[in-house]
Amino acid sequence: MIIALNNKSNLNKNEFTRYLLQLNKIDTNHKLILCPTFLNIPRANIDNKNYLLGAQNVSSNLSGAFTGEISAEQLKEENVKYCIVGHSERRILQKETLQEISSKIKNLQEQNIIPILCVGETKEEKEENKTIAVIKEEILSAIENQTDIEKIIIAYEPIWAIGTGVIPKNEEIKKVISEIKKILPSNKVLYGGSCNENNIKELNNITEIDGYLLGGISLKINNLQELLLNCD
Ligand code: 13P
Repeated sequence: MIIALNNKSNLNKNEFTRYLLQLNKIDTNHKLILCPTFLNIPRANIDNKNYLLGAQNVSSNLSGAFTGEISAEQLKEENVKYCIVGHSERRILQKETLQEISSKIKNLQEQNIIPILCVGETKEEKEENKTIAVIKEEILSAIENQTDIEKIIIAYEPIWAIGTGVIPKNEEIKKVISEIKKILPSNKVLYGGSCNENNIKELNNITEIDGYLLGGISLKINNLQELLLNCD
């Protein structure tokens, strides 16, 4: 399984140093992708690590006068292999547009960094039965005019399930992931949103899932370790 760890805007320098020591002791066959803050990326770029490096965002521009932005080329120089794109927290809080997300994917692929494209519906969209339509729009706009489409990893993260402790029923996740795989039959698809060491056993029954994108539990090493043990 692919297990991507989204630290979000957590872990200061000292906390991250301790975290990394503990994380690196985890013995697992799953493919761990650690996505720390930008500042923690060079700290995590060490030899003999049990994870691959990911980032949480990238600039939609290549380089130049874009204050505060980090380019795909700069991520590549830090050994970043994966990058989360279009996380709902960025779509909503930073007003990230479909066009920007598409440019980010293009820039990453030019550097051979694998995009992890997040898609998912709000609670209101779910209640209005718009889940599949929303996800299709987010995917189709992101993959339009891209090459190497099959390399893009899709992460289905229902927005109402992120950080809430509430997750969709298995059949709901199965339905969405099957729809994603109708559009992108060769692509890996992850589930994200309130995964923990307890609900992972139930999620395991969804054979369509290729892995998980973890937020809160990525910060709690003991719980993460238990999740990895229970994940097949
Ligand atoms: P939680 O696991 O904290 O719900 O966050 C999921 C997420 O947003 C990962 O990108």
